Amino acid sequence: MNRKELIDHAFQAMKNSYAPYSQFHVGAAVACRDGKVFYGANIENASYGATNCAERSAMFSAYSNGVRKEDIEAIAIVADGETIATPCGICRQVMAELLAMDTPVYMSNGKENLDLTVKDLLPYAFTQEDLQ
Ligand code: THU
Repeated sequence: MNRKELIDHAFQAMKNSYAPYSQFHVGAAVACRDGKVFYGANIENASYGATNCAERSAMFSAYSNGVRKEDIEAIAIVADGETIATPCGICRQVMAELLAMDTPVYMSNGKENLDLTVKDLLPYAFTQEDLQ
């Protein structure tokens, strides 16, 4: 799946954002090598810390359906703000766990685009290898 298609899927996912507190709507989509796509949106909570970001929702959805990192081609993250929403620190750590470090991460706000990898976003990550 190409970058633009995956970004379009993420914008579709953004429509399901539940953000009554921030009004900041985020969508994400995980593309698998077999063509499947898993969606995620940010889901907020009155207890703010219980909020789940869009990219974590998408990765958890993929994993919940049996997908594993070797099956994943790329992830896209989009938001409707003025700037490109880059993943928060918790999401970067989850990406380092659930995606390969060279997985492309496509970001967009519909006007500007930014393409990085998981490793670009979280160099020197603490991972499973450090626990051996
Ligand atoms: N948010 C995401 O879903 N992903 C990001 O990359 C940045 C932040 C959400 C969390 C919260 O619902 C809202 O955006 C404001 O922080």
